[in-house]
Amino acid sequence: MAVVKVPKKKAREILEILKKNKILDGKRKALRDNEFVYFPITDIEKAKQLNLEILPLDAPRRPERQIYKNLEDLLPKNIVERLGRLDIVGDIAILTMPEDLKEKVREIANAIKKLYPEVRVIARRGFHEGEFRVRRLEVVWGENRLETVHKENGVLIKVDLSKVFFNPRMKGERYRIAQLVNDGEKILIPFAGVLPYALVIARYKKVDITAVELNPEAVKLGYENIKLNEKRLKGRINLIKGDVFEVLQKLPEFDRVISPTPKGVDALSIVLSKARKFLHYYDFVHEDEIEVFKKRIVEECRLQGKECTVNVKKIADYKPHVYKVCADVEIKQNH
Ligand SMILES: C[S@@+](CC[C@H](N)C(=O)[O-])C[C@H]1O[C@@H](n2cnc3c(N)ncnc32)[C@H](O)[C@@H]1O
Repeated sequence: MAVVKVPKKKAREILEILKKNKILDGKRKALRDNEFVYFPITDIEKAKQLNLEILPLDAPRRPERQIYKNLEDLLPKNIVERLGRLDIVGDIAILTMPEDLKEKVREIANAIKKLYPEVRVIARRGFHEGEFRVRRLEVVWGENRLETVHKENGVLIKVDLSKVFFNPRMKGERYRIAQLVNDGEKILIPFAGVLPYALVIARYKKVDITAVELNPEAVKLGYENIKLNEKRLKGRINLIKGDVFEVLQKLPEFDRVISPTPKGVDALSIVLSKARKFLHYYDFVHEDEIEVFKKRIVEECRLQGKECTVNVKKIADYKPHVYKVCADVEIKQNH
C-alpha cells in the first residue's frame, strides 16, 4: 500500500492527474495534515514516472457506506432497506436489523459472505450500555462467540465484544491522531479500552504512552494486545488499571493527552490538567451546541491558567443533529 505526498496547494491539480492516469485508489481515503495531502494510489511505478513523492503508508479504507451499497446489490430491496449499517470486526459482522429479519439471516449471511468471505459470526447490533460502554450484541448466525482479532492500521487488536468497547469506525481518526504525534512525546490516554489508540500511535511513533482503563476485561485484553504487537511497535505502552478520576491525580503532566471520553462522562477538567501541549477531547455534541462546547473548553483553559486554541472537528454522526466530535486543543507554551 502506498500514498503520494502532495502539498495542500497542489492537491486539486495532482488529484486530477491521479484520476487521469487511473492510479487513484478509490477504496481508500486520502489523509491530511497541516501542510500535505496523502492520496492513496494503486500503481507505484506509474506514480514514480509522474515524479510524485511516494510514501509506504496504509491509508484507511473508506467508510462502510460503500460496502452497504454492495449489500444492496446482493439482497432484495425489502430486506436491504430494513438493514442498518454493517461493521466488520475481525471475522465478526455486526448489523442493525429488526427482530423479524432474523428469519432471513441465512440469505443475509450469504450476501455478507460474498463481500467478506472471512466472516464466521453475524451479530445483531444493540446499544452501548453501562460504565464500560459494552455494546449489547446477539449472535444470530455462525459460531457462538464474540471474541476475535481485528486488524487495523497495521496492528492486531484482540477484542471480546461481549465484554469490552471497540469501534472499528474510528480507524481513520486513530490514524489522524497518530500522524499528529511527534517522536519523543510522552502521551496519556485515559479511557484506553483494549488500547486501539495506544497501539496505532506506538506503531507509527517512538513515544512513551501511559494508558488508563477501569474495565478489568479490557485491561486483560490490553496486555494481550501489547504482547501480540510487540514486534510492530516503535513506542512503549504502560497500562494502568484504575479509575481515571483517581489515577490521574497521581500522574504528572504529559506532552499530549488523548481522551476517548465515554458518553455522558465529563472528564474535561482532569484530563486538561494533565496536558502540557495538546489535548484531544472526544464528546457527543448537538450541532447547535458546538460553539458552546468550544467556549466551555476555552473557559476551562482560562481557569487552569492555560492559553489555548481550540478546534472542534466532527468525527462521526451519532444520531440526527448530534455528532461525535473531537476538540483538538493546543496549549501555548510560555518559555
Ligand atoms: C468510549 S470507550 C473508549 C475505549 C477505547 N479508547 C477505544 O477507543 O476503543 C471508553 C472506555 O472508558 C472506560 N472507562 C469508563 N469509565 C472509566 C473510568 N472512570 N476510568 C477508567 N476507564 C473508564 C470504559 O471501560 C471504556 O473502555
